[in-house]
Amino acid sequence: MSESQNLKVYRAAEVREQSENGKTWLIIYNKVYDVTEFKYEHPGGEHILNQYSGDDASSIFVYINHSEFALNLMNKYLIGVLHEDDRDNRGEK
Ligand code: HEM
Repeated sequence: MSESQNLKVYRAAEVREQSENGKTWLIIYNKVYDVTEFKYEHPGGEHILNQYSGDDASSIFVYINHSEFALNLMNKYLIGVLHEDDRDNRGEK
């Protein structure tokens, strides 16, 4: 997929900062998602997304075993990739 090519690179600290400033940004497998608007429509509820806002939600995301539909939907909220110095090695590169 060519989607990663034009994505902005964010530091983990910026993701946290946005969350502290009222946005709901999450890191899932080294990608950054803005779910500020989507959280109100999230079938799993707004609360859980607020809880992980600014953080890495990869483990819980996988634990929930989201459907193909959810995985496709995520692309809509993708805003960037995590800076390589802030990546852990759990996710895809
Ligand atoms: C952009 C990110 C996300 C998208 C697009 C998304 C989308 C969805 C969708 C479409 C469902 C309905 C079930 C399914 O189709 O799998 C769902 C359920 C759920 N999601 Fe998410 N989700 C996201 C992130 C997260 C995260 C980060 C968490 C946890 C912190 C989470 C927790 C849940 C829970 C608990 C359910 C309910 C499962 C159930 O009731 O069976 N989701 N999500």
